[in-house]
Amino acid sequence: MRVGLLTGGGDVPGLNAAIRAVVKRGVGEHGHHIVGFRNGWKGVAEGDVQPLTRQDIRNVLPIGGTLLGTARFHPHATEGGLESVLATIENEHIDALICIGGDGTLHAASKIAEAGVKIVAIPKTIDNDVWGTESSIGFDTAVTIATEAIDRIHTTAESHNRVMIVEVMGRSAGWIAATSGIAGGAEIVLAPEQPFDIERVVRFLKHRHRAHASFSIIVVAEGATPAEGTSMDYEMQVGRFGQIVAGGISDRLKHEIEQRTGFDTRVTVLGHIQRGGTPTPADRILGSRFGVAAIDAVTRGETGVMTAIRDGEVVLVPLEEVAGKVKHVPHDLLDVARALA
Ligand code: F6P
Repeated sequence: MRVGLLTGGGDVPGLNAAIRAVVKRGVGEHGHHIVGFRNGWKGVAEGDVQPLTRQDIRNVLPIGGTLLGTARFHPHATEGGLESVLATIENEHIDALICIGGDGTLHAASKIAEAGVKIVAIPKTIDNDVWGTESSIGFDTAVTIATEAIDRIHTTAESHNRVMIVEVMGRSAGWIAATSGIAGGAEIVLAPEQPFDIERVVRFLKHRHRAHASFSIIVVAEGATPAEGTSMDYEMQVGRFGQIVAGGISDRLKHEIEQRTGFDTRVTVLGHIQRGGTPTPADRILGSRFGVAAIDAVTRGETGVMTAIRDGEVVLVPLEEVAGKVKHVPHDLLDVARALA
């Protein structure tokens, strides 16, 4: 078989582990030809291909990013995009495609599967918001990095008696905020799942600083929003992919906290540091398990599915069931973060 492989959307640590697993198992055990598309769906639309051999995946396991490159490109939302993708698949004689991606890539994968292409998807996103799987490649590394950052911020917060706001990624779901907030012992965790009341945040800080301590750490997901009716002076500007380009939530929080409490407040936006560098063992293992499961599924002819982890087991779930849905943080996890403040 000729099997195409791509990584789409934002990169995450652990992608190379998945690519390596697909190639090792696919070439070594099943005797397939693996063809890599460069830069996600863009590479498929443009016919940008490279053969993937065992040589190409040597020593890639501890390396972050993706050896195939990636891009935010949505074929179904680009004029002629879908047609170009289908033409390449035919011209390159691709029997099946393995797509490693988050919500955008999976959405595109389900559209292309509807057009008759045999697809197996692998979930990756540091945001951990892909529906249908308990975890996605990249999440564990991001939480590890964010927790280490909070630990470091703790000592400087305490020394200077400051309120420190740590902004983590998570546009639609607050998985990184909730888990790194718990692991790092943050006083306040703000996530998109629960719009926050700035009055309560300020009341909490004033009480804490009067009664217990002179510093506080707030972990806020980039997608957290103030509750309806809350007045916050700063206006946010959103870019064309929905990303915040100015006046992000942390700046708005800092402004409000300083105005209302007079506490010295600083902001640290972790940004792409959460997505860079070497993957944790957990992400290498997850990437490897998903890669093997995906190529095995292709070999069996089981397509139109996504690899997922459920109760610790790798399973396959129908692609159409997961595409377009967001897996939110359950309330009990947010409650633990609140209870331990
Ligand atoms: O979707 C994953 C993610 O890391 C989000 O948490 C973040 O908002 C976004 O990607 C950033 O995208 P980009 O790398 O394109 O700026």
